[in-house]
Amino acid sequence: MSINKITAPSTITILGGAGFVGSCLVAKLDEAGYQVKVLSRRRENSRHLILLPNVQVVECDVMDNHALKAALTGSDKVINLIGILHEAGNNTFEAMHHQLPRRVAQICEELNIQRLLHMSALQADIHAPSQYLKSKALGEATINACSKKLDITIFKPSVIFGRGDSFINLLANLVKFLPVIFLAKPKVKFQPIWVEDVAQCFMSALENTATYGKTYELGGPSVYTLRELVQKVMAILGKQRPIFGLNDTLSMAQGFMLELMPIKLMTRDNIRSMQVDSICSAQIAPELGVVPTSLDVIVPEYLLNASPRAAYAAFRRAAGRAISARR
Ligand SMILES: NC(=O)c1ccc[n+]([C@@H]2O[C@H](COP(=O)([O-])OP(=O)(O)OC[C@H]3O[C@@H](n4cnc5c(N)ncnc54)[C@H](OP(=O)(O)O)[C@@H]3O)[C@@H](O)[C@H]2O)c1
Repeated sequence: MSINKITAPSTITILGGAGFVGSCLVAKLDEAGYQVKVLSRRRENSRHLILLPNVQVVECDVMDNHALKAALTGSDKVINLIGILHEAGNNTFEAMHHQLPRRVAQICEELNIQRLLHMSALQADIHAPSQYLKSKALGEATINACSKKLDITIFKPSVIFGRGDSFINLLANLVKFLPVIFLAKPKVKFQPIWVEDVAQCFMSALENTATYGKTYELGGPSVYTLRELVQKVMAILGKQRPIFGLNDTLSMAQGFMLELMPIKLMTRDNIRSMQVDSICSAQIAPELGVVPTSLDVIVPEYLLNASPRAAYAAFRRAAGRAISARR
């Protein structure tokens, strides 16, 4: 006679679960029956997740170690998606990309939570040209240092696209609102990957012991220069704009000018990140079981069916305010 073992569903705590990637992943985890706890600075940021039946949103200041430890208590697995593109006040790259992952890993050890999945970025390297990429590399190193005690998986995606994204929507807004496009780093290459595919990689890895201790690069099926991406967006929107590619000096000057604006769309550090091509060294690892979807299949749908408010999503995100366009 076989006895069916009844196990309680795992409780997964997600830092950054209300963001662009997080919202997609949380929906998948909820559907799969996991108990999901989303940590957010403001419950308001997560209102689109509150109706999901297995999801609990907890307000937490992750910079406060006691609050973070209390929020992680009772979790079986932890996913850290927190990341920033621009520094602001105490929210530095060092704090968010290096010290926070270190504290998360330490707390996981203290609480005996063995499974930790972490989001880094493609081309993160301690010798990278930007603070963003350097700090992401330090985060990876600090987590990997705990790999004797924890079952860790790290993901390093290229730029991620999908409804409500920052990148393609920003390019679309430039095309819509500017008569001429002065494009920084026009030759830099990206390998954009669909947010659903990224979330599916996390899902595949979650219970798969073959992914423990591994770091995965994630990219889509095609590589594009930045100029080609702008041209693609123009073709989708049916708008033609002259594109003037800026050389390195003018690209940095544009980054500096944009840093002075109240809403940071671009910084010199972002320009420095684009000194390296954001392309993968290999295809997505077979154990993740994801065949990435082409941008051509997905992007027209959301750029052409964007709500009137969606045009402002990229600006709202750049300002660090809640996003509504992804819903
Ligand atoms: N999107 C891309 O193209 C891309 C490419 C490569 C790597 N990544 C990495 O993937 C991860 C997720 O990216 P995403 O596009 O989903 O980003 P996102 O939409 O900006 O979400 C990031 C989340 O981080 C949290 N967060 C930001 N600053 C915080 C702070 N100071 N304190 C506490 N929480 C903070 C926010 O949570 P609350 O507002 O709810 O508190 C937010 O939901 C990041 O680590 C990012 O670096 C993204």
